[in-house]
Amino acid sequence: MKNGQFRIAVIKGDGIGVDVTDAALAVIEAAQRRVGNLSLGYEFLDAGAGYFQANGRDMAPGAEDAAQAADAIFLGAIGLPSVRHEDGTEIAPHLRLRESCQLYAGVRPVKAYPNAPQRLADERAAGIDLVILRESTEGLFYSAATHNRSQVIGDEEVRETLRITRATTEKLHDFAFRLARKRKARGGKGHVTCVDKANVFHSMAFFRKIFDERAEAFPDIGHSYNHVDAQALDLIRKPWEFDVLVMENMFGDILSDLGGGLVGGMGMASCAEIGDAHGLFQSAHGSAPDIMGQDKANPLASILSGALMLDYLAERSGLQVLADAGLLIDSAIQSGFEANRLRPMEFGGDQGTAALTREVVSLIEETRLQ
Ligand code: IPM
Ligand code: MG
Repeated sequence: MKNGQFRIAVIKGDGIGVDVTDAALAVIEAAQRRVGNLSLGYEFLDAGAGYFQANGRDMAPGAEDAAQAADAIFLGAIGLPSVRHEDGTEIAPHLRLRESCQLYAGVRPVKAYPNAPQRLADERAAGIDLVILRESTEGLFYSAATHNRSQVIGDEEVRETLRITRATTEKLHDFAFRLARKRKARGGKGHVTCVDKANVFHSMAFFRKIFDERAEAFPDIGHSYNHVDAQALDLIRKPWEFDVLVMENMFGDILSDLGGGLVGGMGMASCAEIGDAHGLFQSAHGSAPDIMGQDKANPLASILSGALMLDYLAERSGLQVLADAGLLIDSAIQSGFEANRLRPMEFGGDQGTAALTREVVSLIEETRLQ
């Protein structure tokens, strides 16, 4: 940050990543106009599968450094099923950014909104409000961030490494407890569940041991455990009982899609990836090339990720206007759903990307400031 000016690195990426990023930036702009006194400067960086296809590399020269030098990184979506590396995996520079920026805390809120689809036939589903905290730099994805970590034995066998380190896990669990504390102050349950597979894997027993150690420093926050398979079951049986769920990278990747599904679909799945020195904000959905450029994408996950970014910048800088702008976006979406003014096509509604964006902007303009 320089003279109250923030620099945001923006990677629109592939497919609907472009549409939803434009939507999020328009909404942030509207929130910025309302709170005043706030200046975000954008630096647009090329990266993704389309870029790879045209240029033989997944990020433009200098883009990785520029992203690291920014106050925050905003990302649309990256990847196209038709563009792959020789080994069959997709183009994913984002995984490298998670590692190089040490974005260990992947925050993925799962929140039910009124008039959005509830996939569970239980009225308590209206109260779903949890966060999946996905470790995002190691775990089983350790193998995936760069291509030389998988052990390929001819055409006969492939081994991948699941890595859990004490240093990252301590920070992750501390982040989980602090997040639960912050949510508790706003009426949350004040509880962290450690989701693991400690009954089978040494690495997971280690993950849980560190959870127990760190829990001692947070006596005001409840803590318990669940094996990941049972957690999948419980997310269908009683998701309204959970608050913060902390877990290894791959488990978090899987359960965060389940979470998105519980409250409508991936178009609601926002995400903040936070480290000690960097933050990256993206919706957790993919590039959906089948609907790209057709004005069909639900931009709300991306817009909500924008609100997470403003909240993050507020925490880092101590600037209240940023927090106000984030809250303005959150409350616009909340009241928009309450009044049935947000009807994404993703849920069978009549609003495409542009109409939804316009509606959120109108809601922000109508919101009375405290
Ligand atoms: C996510 C996505 C990514 C991941 C893909 C696109 C590499 O699924 O953010 O959840 O696997 O982490
Ligand atoms: Mg995923």
